[in-house]
Amino acid sequence: MADKNKDTLANLLNEDRSFPPHADFAAAANVKADAYEEAKNDRLAFWDKQAQRLDWTKKWDRVLDWSNAPFAEWFVGGELNVAYNCVDRHVEAGNGDRVALYWEGEPGDDRRITYNELSAEVNRAANTLTDFGIEAGDRVVIYMPMVPEAAIAMLACARIGAVHSVVFGGFSVDALSDRIQDAGAKMVITADGGFRKGKPSGLKETVDAAVERCDTIENVLVVQRTKQDVAWTSKDHWWHETVSNASSEHQPKSFDSEHPLFILYTSGTTGKPKGILHTSGGYLTQTSYTHHAVFDAKPDSDVFWCTADVGWVTGHSYIVYGPLSNGATQVMYEGTPDTPHKGRFWEIVDKYKVTTLYAAPTAIRTFMKWGDDIPAQYDLSSLRLLGSVGEPINPEAWMWYREKIGGGTAPIVDTWWQTETGSIMISPLPGETATKPGSAQVPLPGISIDVVDDDAKSVGAGGGGFLTIGEPWPSMLRGIWGDDERYKKTYWSRFENLYFAGDGAKRDDDGDLWLLGRVDDVMLVSGHNISTTEVESALVSHETVAEAAVVGASDPVTGQGIVAFVIPRGEADSSPEHLSELRNHVAQTLGPIAKPRQVMMVGELPKTRSGKIMRRLLRDIAEDRELGDVTTLQDSSVMSRIKEGLSTGSDE
Ligand code: WT7
Repeated sequence: MADKNKDTLANLLNEDRSFPPHADFAAAANVKADAYEEAKNDRLAFWDKQAQRLDWTKKWDRVLDWSNAPFAEWFVGGELNVAYNCVDRHVEAGNGDRVALYWEGEPGDDRRITYNELSAEVNRAANTLTDFGIEAGDRVVIYMPMVPEAAIAMLACARIGAVHSVVFGGFSVDALSDRIQDAGAKMVITADGGFRKGKPSGLKETVDAAVERCDTIENVLVVQRTKQDVAWTSKDHWWHETVSNASSEHQPKSFDSEHPLFILYTSGTTGKPKGILHTSGGYLTQTSYTHHAVFDAKPDSDVFWCTADVGWVTGHSYIVYGPLSNGATQVMYEGTPDTPHKGRFWEIVDKYKVTTLYAAPTAIRTFMKWGDDIPAQYDLSSLRLLGSVGEPINPEAWMWYREKIGGGTAPIVDTWWQTETGSIMISPLPGETATKPGSAQVPLPGISIDVVDDDAKSVGAGGGGFLTIGEPWPSMLRGIWGDDERYKKTYWSRFENLYFAGDGAKRDDDGDLWLLGRVDDVMLVSGHNISTTEVESALVSHETVAEAAVVGASDPVTGQGIVAFVIPRGEADSSPEHLSELRNHVAQTLGPIAKPRQVMMVGELPKTRSGKIMRRLLRDIAEDRELGDVTTLQDSSVMSRIKEGLSTGSDE
């Protein structure tokens, strides 16, 4: 192998465990090895075939137009209605009585909504939006708790060709009004509030304050969920007084394949939020195909549960568009995993006999910390497939997920993608791939991924570098709303003709891909580029560690020194001996170069609202600086608690 010092990103972690799918799972799998072959032989023919999963009112003339790169057009000239594909066609196929959504409120109230009912409600909402003057191309901001009306509102927009922009219900007045203004939205759909952590949490007051700053908003539609008191203005209308009285008949119009479907803002770590633009035909094709292939979706027997919020792209693609386009039955849950008790998720799996669970590593590590005895109290035997998304999943958390939740048999699909990619890009195929704990493994059929060095040269087996995408894909972003230059600069300027996602990755000796975190977070220690993910996974593999975050802090000798923040599993032991044991454990697992300079035991870690660790803030602590911007933190008081509670364990 090449001199380690010259590697773009060091490859330190070795993982030998591998779990082939069960023979019966493999035999019944929706997608098998031939899909790779087929896509490799003719990528565009492959996507042409997948687009036929959908009902189009006008067939496309061309699969892809990339002549105006990096602005893609897919299924050029084709026309369809996205909502018709997600709802009406299942009713027409005779599946109107199938449950579309099992909705579970946090306090324990529940609703079941069949495709017949979903269809009627989407039609009523579409008629209401039209009555309020919303036309194709107009922008509608959706600021909702996790209630069925959130999905219904999205589908109603799609049905009339309006462009929705869902803003996560935990965001502030500033965040909401910035997004309304950037999108130039005409309407907001919201609720009085939602239940979170055992109490009603208001949304309407945030909308009121935001709308005051945004004169483009003409009407506000309000779902009544918590029945808390709300202020009322002449722009406000109750859902139950408008939508509920509207006609349940609605004739869907067809829209161009490239008609905008939604804008979703990603905050990123710096700068103004980017309005990621997705369009219709390509987006729906790839979300539908990936839900079918990666989750092995069997709509007449599966119960699918994606635990993400609709405010994130995961909720768009794997609660609304992917599963519903396939006629799936799903669970949607309003609240938090520990309300009213820490077994809430497993109680829901048991109640609805969930077969397929899609969750984030941050949640899995939290469940691991809460203890094995909690899931053990429930019948989880309905689960046949597990998914992970949002961050690298540490091998230890992966094994725990497989054993304690998946009964030691359910395959795990670790799915890599982004708001920008729209759908899953890298993932095992559950009936085909022998899965490896911690690796997202292989690009899906029809997707071209490469790991390259600084000079855009492909790194070989055993090498690390930048994760790039070589060919356009159907659900790719079509740009940043209102800022074409920023789109080119952000994604297409680092390497020529390659989309660069910002992530580091390595290829192991079998050619499988391992995501190594954001390249901005890579630590430079004595000339070696070391990924945060590998050091964190090494720490989590110690039996006393539930979660870890590492950062590079400037060091007079080594350039950067590794500083680790660790959440204990069970009883905390911050004795110097124990902390030193953890440092040695990393050195033994990854080699002496990766030995942390310092380990600190903490009670919690600073995370964004979607659960990603904010290493920037931890670097501020590690380098003893004033804290930077904390506004995107899930809980802004966490930093002062970390500072107060720190016990350091450096023996340097
Ligand atoms: C970033 C995208 C994709 C929906 C949720 C997040 C990280 C995502 C994985 C994974 C390692 C992952 C990447 C990516 N990420 N999935 N399976 N393994 N890292 O969407 O907020 O746009 O974040 O999440 O860093 O670039 P997002």
